[in-house]
Amino acid sequence: MRILSGIQPSGKLHIGNYFGMMRPALELAQKGEAFYFIADYHALTSVSNAAGLRQNVADVALDFLACGLDPAKTVFYRQSDVPQVTELAWILNCITPMPMLENCVSYKDKTAQGLTPNAGLFTYPVLQAADILIVQSHLVPVGKDQKQHIEVTRDIAGAFNRQFGEVFTIPEASIREAVAVMPGTDGQKMSKSYGNAIEIFGDEKATKKKVMGIITDCQPMEAPKTNLDQNIALQLLKVIAPDKAAEQEAKLVAGGYGYGELKKTLLAALMDYFAPMRAKRAELEKNLDYVEQVLRAGAARANAVANATMEQVRKAVGLR
Ligand code: ADP
Ligand code: TRP
Repeated sequence: MRILSGIQPSGKLHIGNYFGMMRPALELAQKGEAFYFIADYHALTSVSNAAGLRQNVADVALDFLACGLDPAKTVFYRQSDVPQVTELAWILNCITPMPMLENCVSYKDKTAQGLTPNAGLFTYPVLQAADILIVQSHLVPVGKDQKQHIEVTRDIAGAFNRQFGEVFTIPEASIREAVAVMPGTDGQKMSKSYGNAIEIFGDEKATKKKVMGIITDCQPMEAPKTNLDQNIALQLLKVIAPDKAAEQEAKLVAGGYGYGELKKTLLAALMDYFAPMRAKRAELEKNLDYVEQVLRAGAARANAVANATMEQVRKAVGLR
């Protein structure tokens, strides 16, 4: 079984990205042949600063390796090291109906916000389809927000196979409902773009400031607390350290226990959970040549698979 996923290098990764996408993807990688990549072509639809993009790509590579991606088992690469995906995206563009792309939420959201979309943003889901189809992936682990893009990929692959013969595997999305959406410090979905994110590798001082700043209701310290299912700090603790969350919940319900203590427990749990990864990241940072080697070796393996698919595709459509 082949498994593929990508992440855009568009800012610092946060614990929502980790628990929503990275951890499930890393677990799934044990069950098949995984291809995980850094979607730098996709990031070009929103990042227009070369140095910034390069830095983000380097950060995402360090983050994934520090969080436990095993490059001996998983093919880990930069999307732009497999430029065949842009050729495939062009071919797929030519069989993709415009209304299907006009319907995509990611595109509709941006235009609704008043942004003037570029053509890249419009055909973004077609490039994503090319990423997935070029490695003939069976399974695509993603967060809920990406479900529509996987549907589009399935539609495009089906249309291609009907028109030109059976070339592509039809992929399926793998979505973890258990950690559907992690809330940010303000209670909205945690996101790089909302200023409410707790970074995985933020320094301790910055993380403390974020955690202590999580909004809470104003029940007095002495009161037995109610409505705890609305409590953001407790929701986050439940994902990071479920046993500690149960203890904290019991104390809060009993009364005479304040939210300050809960937040301190959350901070300690966060620091504990990510301590080994933090240490690994610090090691890797001293060895950037190794990280580059990993990405190049991944690119070589991904290229071999991509070339084999493109041979079939070119033949099927009549390009050679
Ligand atoms: P962001 O909104 O921070 O820019 P992305 O859109 O780059 O995040 O998402 C990268 C991956 O992380 C996707 O698979 C997405 O579903 C997942 N993800 C992002 N934010 C959260 C969250 N708050 N909770 C759970 N998963 C998330
Ligand atoms: N669009 C995805 C996101 O924003 C990133 C991505 C690009 C991707 N290509 C992919 C995810 C292929 C899965 C498969 O999160």
